Amino acid sequence: MNFEKICVLGLGYIGLPTASTFATHGVRVIGVDVDQRVVGVLRSGEIHIHEPGLRTRVQAAFRSGTLQVSDTPEKADAFIIAVPTPIRDDKTADMRAVISATEAITPHLAPGNLVVLESTSPPRTTVDLVRPILERGGLKAGGDFHLAYSPERVLPGQILRELIENARVIGGIDHASAEAGAELYRTFVCGDILLTDATTAEMVKLMENTYRDINIAAANEFARLAHEFGINFWEARRLANLHPRVEILKAGPGVGGHCISVDPWFLVEAAPKCTPLIRQAREINDSQPAFVVGLLEKALGGLAGKQIAALGLSYKPDVDDLRESPAITIVELMIEAGARVCTFEPFKPEAVVPGAAPAVSLEEALSGADALVLLVDHEQFRSLDPALIAGLLPGRLAVDTRGVWGAEWKDAGFQLQTLGKGKNDG
Ligand SMILES: NC(=O)c1ccc[n+]([C@@H]2O[C@H](COP(=O)([O-])OP(=O)(O)OC[C@H]3O[C@@H](n4cnc5c(N)ncnc54)[C@H](O)[C@@H]3O)[C@@H](O)[C@H]2O)c1
Repeated sequence: MNFEKICVLGLGYIGLPTASTFATHGVRVIGVDVDQRVVGVLRSGEIHIHEPGLRTRVQAAFRSGTLQVSDTPEKADAFIIAVPTPIRDDKTADMRAVISATEAITPHLAPGNLVVLESTSPPRTTVDLVRPILERGGLKAGGDFHLAYSPERVLPGQILRELIENARVIGGIDHASAEAGAELYRTFVCGDILLTDATTAEMVKLMENTYRDINIAAANEFARLAHEFGINFWEARRLANLHPRVEILKAGPGVGGHCISVDPWFLVEAAPKCTPLIRQAREINDSQPAFVVGLLEKALGGLAGKQIAALGLSYKPDVDDLRESPAITIVELMIEAGARVCTFEPFKPEAVVPGAAPAVSLEEALSGADALVLLVDHEQFRSLDPALIAGLLPGRLAVDTRGVWGAEWKDAGFQLQTLGKGKNDG
């Protein structure tokens, strides 16, 4: 097949790196987004998300004349759908963006085209949801056009490298569709290209993230048990992980981001009777913020009227992505318990949690605080000098929800409370 021109629908964390990488590899790309702000920012030569190296790649794509941005798709050889698939409050999949993106493609679909869904989706989405919408235009999937699902498995912060180097799974609704997908991604993918069917490819992504979620839930439960039994989870984990067949993950304040904390629900919704473990793991991880706030309440003798400096709001270190972040839930719970909370998120200083005061600097966040709580282990927080910090706040309680601060905090005069350390040994 000849892919001279492609349309990428959705220009977020996945779509924009994908569109610009195809463009810098010589393919003409129309990047499509329904958000006028996104289209405006990109047309002005800027980007709207933080991802190392992305601005340079997008600007290179614009300079080479191969990338254009639009709010509607147009005729192309291939269409890639990379739109959001969040969950609703009732934990069911919100597929509206996939439906509307697919509907937008249908009038432009021509014989021989390829359509690839990249959005993480419930099992059978490609065959049961996307296919019938595309066929409304009169063409048959498999016969007239190719249709495939290819999960995106990049790590935020490393997206540009992993997009090219990672193995890529491509599931076709038939073998020819999978082959067409392989040909498209070979434009820039150096990793292995692994062909399968569309529903298996959907399951690969969901199984990967569910596996992580369940293992994190186990670690979080072990950390709770450490408080119960007066031991240090981190030490027990280190010793257990010396066993050749054990790899206990880190405990933390909960699971966030719009992948691991969301995707397992797709399986629970699709097959509730088969998924008691998956549901339970989700519930354990979702209740971890309340456990952390309980530790803080105990250490401070209640939160009412206390001033807390909350360090970090993103769902993981060194990114600006706040989606589904447990750090935000912890801030909300502290406010509910009567605390005055000042937040500092260096990757998004303007981020506001309702009821909390956003600080633009660490000094501002710490000023007047009774305690500081580390919610995200950004590199700049991991390497804080507690002797310097001690001069910036009147309180002497430091709470570490990531297990990264050590005895130097005690040496600097702090009472250090670490998640998972039921034994107060620093
Ligand atoms: N971010 C990640 O690290 C990551 C990793 C793997 C998989 N995914 C999956 O990839 C998909 C996209 O995620 P993301 O992080 O890029 O989302 P995002 O929110 O960063 O970007 C999605 C973009 O799609 C646009 N959009 C919404 N509806 C549209 C439509 N009908 N037509 C065109 N554009 C539309 C939005 O305006 C937004 O700019 C999701 O299913 C997600 O689960 C994300």
